[in-house]
This record gives sequence, C-alpha cells and structure tokens, in this order.
Amino acid sequence: MGKNIIIFQPEGKRVEIEKEDSILSAALKVGVDLVSICNGKGTCGKCKVIIDNMDSVTSLTEKESEMLSNDERKNNIRLACLTKVKGDLTVKVPEFSRTGKQRLQIEGIETPINLNPLIRKYYLELEEPTLDDPRSDVDRIMDYLYENFNLSNLNMDYYLLKNLAKILREAEWKFTVAIWQNTIINIDINDTTDRVFGYAVDIGTTKLAGYLIDLLTGKVVAAGSLMNPQIPYGEDVVSRLNYPDQKKLQDAVIEGINQILNDLKEKTAVKSEEIYEMTAVGNTIMHHLFLGIFPLYVGRSPYPPVVRETQIVNARNLGVKIHPNGRIVFLPTIAGFVGADTVGVVLSTELYKSEDICLAIDIGTNTEVVLGNKDKMLAASCASGPAFEGAHIKFGMRAASGSIENIKIDPETLDVEYKTIDNEPPIGICGSGMIDLVAEMLKTGIIDVGGIINRSLNSPRVRRNEESIIEFVVVFSDKTGIKKDITFSQQDVSQIILAKAAMHTGIKLLLKNYNIKKEDIHKVYLAGAFGSHINKESARMIGIFPEIDLEKVIIVGNAAGTGARMCLVSEEAKKLVEKLSKKIRYLELGNDPDFQKTFMNSNIIPYADLDEFPEISKTLKKYGNYPEQSPPKF
Ligand code: FES
Repeated sequence: MGKNIIIFQPEGKRVEIEKEDSILSAALKVGVDLVSICNGKGTCGKCKVIIDNMDSVTSLTEKESEMLSNDERKNNIRLACLTKVKGDLTVKVPEFSRTGKQRLQIEGIETPINLNPLIRKYYLELEEPTLDDPRSDVDRIMDYLYENFNLSNLNMDYYLLKNLAKILREAEWKFTVAIWQNTIINIDINDTTDRVFGYAVDIGTTKLAGYLIDLLTGKVVAAGSLMNPQIPYGEDVVSRLNYPDQKKLQDAVIEGINQILNDLKEKTAVKSEEIYEMTAVGNTIMHHLFLGIFPLYVGRSPYPPVVRETQIVNARNLGVKIHPNGRIVFLPTIAGFVGADTVGVVLSTELYKSEDICLAIDIGTNTEVVLGNKDKMLAASCASGPAFEGAHIKFGMRAASGSIENIKIDPETLDVEYKTIDNEPPIGICGSGMIDLVAEMLKTGIIDVGGIINRSLNSPRVRRNEESIIEFVVVFSDKTGIKKDITFSQQDVSQIILAKAAMHTGIKLLLKNYNIKKEDIHKVYLAGAFGSHINKESARMIGIFPEIDLEKVIIVGNAAGTGARMCLVSEEAKKLVEKLSKKIRYLELGNDPDFQKTFMNSNIIPYADLDEFPEISKTLKKYGNYPEQSPPKF
C-alpha cells in the first residue's frame, strides 16, 4: 500500500502515513493537538479540520453529513476520524478543535496541616576505615546516623550501593544524605543545603494539575496545569480503558506530568535532584494507567481495582523527572472508579471529621460524590460524561478564551447578557455557561421542567435550525468570534439534563442508602472541573445538588489536588488517607434496585420550591410553564 504526506497547519508538522489511514490517526502519530472526545468513533463531532484538497480524501460519510452544517461542508470542513487519506494534503486544525489553551482549575482550599514530610536531609562527617575499624561503608553511615541523630532501622537504596564506595572516598567522607521514610535515597557530596522539594499531582481524566512544594515550609512555590495528553486516545475513562495500547496512555500521562514539572522547575530554578517525592491522586482508571497496571477489569462488573492500597514506586521506574531515587506515592483508591482523588477531597474538606452529615461533589467527566460524617461515609461515581466539557453540545467547548462562562436572560425581551473568558468575542459555551443557560432558560420560560423549548414564544431567538430542530439563539453572528450564531438546541438541553440526571441519581441514591433526607445535609462541598466559576444558584436550579440553602454550599476548587499536597507534606496525612480509603464505603449505583426509576425521574429539571421564588413562579406562569404538579425533588 502506498504512502502519503500530510502537513498539519499551523504547526507545520509533517507525517507520512499509509493510504486509507484516517486524518485523526495521522494527527495522533505526529502529536497534533486535536480534540477527539469519542475516541474516533465519529459520534462527538469535535475533530473538525479544514482540508485543502478534497480530491486527496475519501468522500463525505453519512455520519459527517449529519454532523456538519451546510456552511461547514462548503468550507471544506471534515471530521478527522471519518476522513481517510488518498493523496498528499495539508490539513488545518482550527482553534476550536484543539485541546490546548484551556483555563484549568488549580486553586483549591487551604486546609491547615502539621508539616512532617517523609524526606529529611542530614550532614555527615565520617571517620575513614582503618585496620582497627574495618566496618562496612554502610555500617559506618548507619552508626553515625544513630549516634548523632538517633536514627535507627534504616536501609539504603540499592542504586546507591553500586557506587557508594567511590562516592564516599571522593567526598573525603563528608556528605549529605537524604532519607525518605527509613531509606537513604541520596548521597550528595556537593550539597550542604537543606533544600528539599516535593511535587503533588492531580491526574484528572481531562486535566492534570501539578504543584511544586518546598518541604521545609510546606508552601507551594509554583503550580501549573495541562490538558491530560491521553485525551486524543479517548475523552472518558471507558474509551481509555478500552484503548488497545495501554503503554501509550501511560507514556502520554507521564510526559504531561514531566512537562508541567519542567515548566515549574524553569520558573523556580529548583533542580530535579532536589525533588525527592511526588504524591499523586486520580480516579481508579487514571491510577492504573499511570502506574502501568492492567486496568480492563475495573471497567467490568463487579468493577474490582487491581489494588486499593497506597502504591510507592521509585521515580526511575516510571520515568518521572524528579530525583531518580525519589519516591512516587500514589494515594489509595476506594472501589470501582472512585479513586484517590475522592480520598483527597474527603481529606481536604475534612468531611471525615464532621459531626454533621456533609456532601462532597467532585464534578468532572466522571463525577464522584461522597455523603457522610466522622462515623460513616458513602461514595459513588456518576457517569456524568463530558457534556459539561463541551462534548455532544453543538457550541459546547471547554473553558478557554472566548467561551461564554456566565449568562443572564431578560425575562421580558429574552435578550442575553453574557461574559466570556478573557472578554474575547464568544466562540462557544463552557460548562459553567451551560449551567447558567439552562437555569436561565427555565426561569424565563424558554424551556419547561422537562427541558422542552417553548415553540410558541414570539422571539427571533427561538427558531428551527436547518435540521428542523428547535433552538435558542444565545448570540447572533454579528457579535460572535466565529461569524455564525451561537445556539443551544433542544438536543443540547437534553444532553445537559442527562449529565445532571447522572449526578442527581447518584446523590439521591446515596441519600436513600444513608437513610437521610436532603434537609439533613449540613454542607455541600462543590469541587472539581469548573468549581470556582460555577453559579451556585444556577447549579441548584437545574438539580446538580439538592435544594438546600446556598449558604451551605462551599466551592472548594481542586480539593483533590489539595489532598495530594497535604499528603506530600505530612506523614500523618498519608496514614490517614489509608484509613479513609478503607472506611469510605462504595455504592455501586447500577446495583441499586431504584437506579433505573431514579434515573428516569431525574430527567427533568428539579428546581427550588417555587413558593420561595415568586419571581420565577411569575415568569413560569406567564409563559404557561408553571407545572400543575410539582416534579419529584431530592
Ligand atoms: S467525531 Fe471524530 S473523534 Fe469524535
């Protein structure tokens, strides 16, 4: 079979591929940043590229005809996963099809903790061996550490032993040792400082966040983030679980972790050799993929992880660019997909200490929820899917420059007031914008509680699109950065309702299994993906969390990342998470006999008691959308 050359613009990356390979596989091969939320199944419609020469590609498929508008087809836009190559060509990847340049969630709550890291450094000056004192080199070091620092039961990392004799003599028996827990992991002849750093990482399905921490002070010296480089292999955990080459996924995530680390080192002049430990959190699939553990059966009923306990691996074995003898500590998971990130959330919110029952919701492509207090905690994982990240939503996108993040609709005129990230002209709507939009559409009577758009509204904003689907125009083309109307269709509303239904179902079944009512919830901690940018009132309005007083809702940002940081600086926290992971009981939602019924009932928009919101009631009544019967609530 012949070969063809593809050049990807604007990077100018060039790749030679077999005839009949897809453009997506060529992009993956050469590392081009291209969104492929459905893992190339041709269902998400996000891998749009512009082709310079249509004769060099296969003709439009039926699926593409359904997913591309007339305008897009006229402008030579194709879906990279469904378009195969017949000849040499140039492919342009537009900004909206890229995974990069996202605003990422790094900030998390600050929970005070005693500083007590596992790594410590000591300066030693030893006597040389003599015929009267021929102790081994290692004994000489251990005896000194015992006599001078009262340290006992230590051992030495195997890699240090190899060249120990040379190092000690070159150092003229004066050197610094770094001890991690009870293992000497480094001997440095030039280092007389006590500088020690650590690296905490939150491995999200969609995002990676990394924090470089001074372990003498416990302070974050720099933080950074990146889209998870595994995304091109599938956006959700199930696609990644089923990706045939798991090593590629492991390499991709480690490369991303190293990339953040390199940036942080450059910013701070901290050297790899000064970073002795990395702690990591992530859901069970991210945990297995990062550690190179075969993950397939975590995705199959009854969803057992291969291992639950904290895993400790030498950095050199994984290729993470901290000190090669440094330790990678992956915090323990819980069960099913509920992993170390949830343990991190429970640790940092101190839910495990609470007398009162609290609810923690970590919103992401998989949303994890924990309900409980110091006596009992229940956790579940809800397949909320990537709709809030922009998948399956026509103008959905991740939080990036130009995405609409806040929306208000005038109940009289239906005019839309919006705010975009970086105040750029709007090019799409991100998760927090979609939550606002659906809540505002409900309040103003554009949709009813079933999410059905009111066709009888007399407004140019409510119309049928070219596929005859009813839609609401959020921004008209003259104000957008993409020169076309940004709309939200009946199908888009349904996708958001499905995503929130997954969370609603999870929370409702946790409440049932805990045998409490929503009124018994003392606090709701809202963590994760768009944590600090979400409008609490809108989130409650569409039923992301129960209808409780908004003052009880606390936005905690990247609480999982905070948990990883706490464990990095504290031995006690490491011990505590091990206990928490055993204590938090996992609830497999699909096993609950009420699952189907609850999920079906969740496919409407629950809203706060309308009596408490006379303005909303008035508006719903005005448009004839006030329900005759109250819909089911939490
Ligand atoms: S449609 Fe191409 S990757 Fe989803």
